[in-house]
Amino acid sequence: MLSPGLQKVLAQRHPTPYLALDPDVVRERHRLLRTAFGGATILYAVKACPEPAVLRALVADGAGFDVASQQEIALCLAAGADPATLQHGNPVRGPGAAARAAADGIRRFVTDSAEDVDALAAEVPGARVQVRLIVDDSGSATPFHGKFGALPGEAVGLLHRIRERGLVAAGVTFHAGSQQVRPQTYADAVGTALAVAGRAGLRRPELDLGGGWPVAYRSAVPGPEVFAAAVREAVDAAVTAGRVDDVTLFLEPGRALAAPAGVLRATVLRVSRRPGVDHRRWVYLDVGRYQGLAETEGEAVGYPIRVPDRSGPPGPAVLAGPTCDGDDVIYRRTPVALPLDLAAGDVLDLLGTGAYTSSYASVGFNGFGPLRVVVADRP
Ligand SMILES: Cc1ncc(COP(=O)(O)O)c(C=O)c1O
Repeated sequence: MLSPGLQKVLAQRHPTPYLALDPDVVRERHRLLRTAFGGATILYAVKACPEPAVLRALVADGAGFDVASQQEIALCLAAGADPATLQHGNPVRGPGAAARAAADGIRRFVTDSAEDVDALAAEVPGARVQVRLIVDDSGSATPFHGKFGALPGEAVGLLHRIRERGLVAAGVTFHAGSQQVRPQTYADAVGTALAVAGRAGLRRPELDLGGGWPVAYRSAVPGPEVFAAAVREAVDAAVTAGRVDDVTLFLEPGRALAAPAGVLRATVLRVSRRPGVDHRRWVYLDVGRYQGLAETEGEAVGYPIRVPDRSGPPGPAVLAGPTCDGDDVIYRRTPVALPLDLAAGDVLDLLGTGAYTSSYASVGFNGFGPLRVVVADRP
């Protein structure tokens, strides 16, 4: 069931393609997650959907922000965020980047290497720093493949180094991979993270659970309360074992807040029969991999699809984008059933597309512009 705001935008029949976006849904999701995790601090991962209306709604709701660049910092500050609520979570910072963030009032950083700790010490004396651990992210739709994070022994050393360099060793963090569907993955990561914190002598560390919280695209996923129970159990076990006394919980959701707030409306450009090539119809849309559907690479994310103006019986189809690029095929393996009377000019909705779509769209590959966003008015 779409929110009243999304229904209203879609009923306005704007020229396609566009992303209909409802900040009220983001706010509801923020409250849901915060409540499930007992009032934990939520740092919204801006990369998921940096739309100003979304950032303003979250500022009004008391959220903080996980930012990765100076531009994301600027967006949050323009939306009214207090810089004290921003955390620079990208351990890949070029020379001077931390100092520029600090000039904007950012005091919280995440690191995963000795080189970065030394740079932080030089550029932001006294900053609060969390160490990111590498954890198993195999239950994720888009794993990090080891790009970030330190192994536990190294992480203990980094926490010591942070203190030796005059910084504040605030705690530990990890990212279990986006669209992570296994609660046990978080529980295991928490166990490792708190063992590291304990070994480094942090009795009351910040425990930042990162992002990864999944949404139900085509299949059901465990709800936030299931993940919260798994995390709580792992924290309790670490306290009982004497590793730490208590923790301050942070979460960095991106997808879980933004995905359900968006619907990507497209138009069918062509329905082709391809005798001898494919028994299925090929349905080409005015939006594809390069206008926001980046997460269909490898068919990692399977968005639910609906055709609002047709109700005929469905048949299988391949879904492709509008450009001349061979990779611009949205779903070839993922089953797509579309009405057999579907025709060029019909509109089609990709649901759950509020996260990682408009922020990924290219500036104009093959002349197809970036994805337009139409924000639902406040009721
Ligand atoms: C450091 C960090 N935090 C949070 C997120 C948000 O992840 P998700 O959208 O899976 O919740 C990301 C996404 O890549 C990230 O890199």
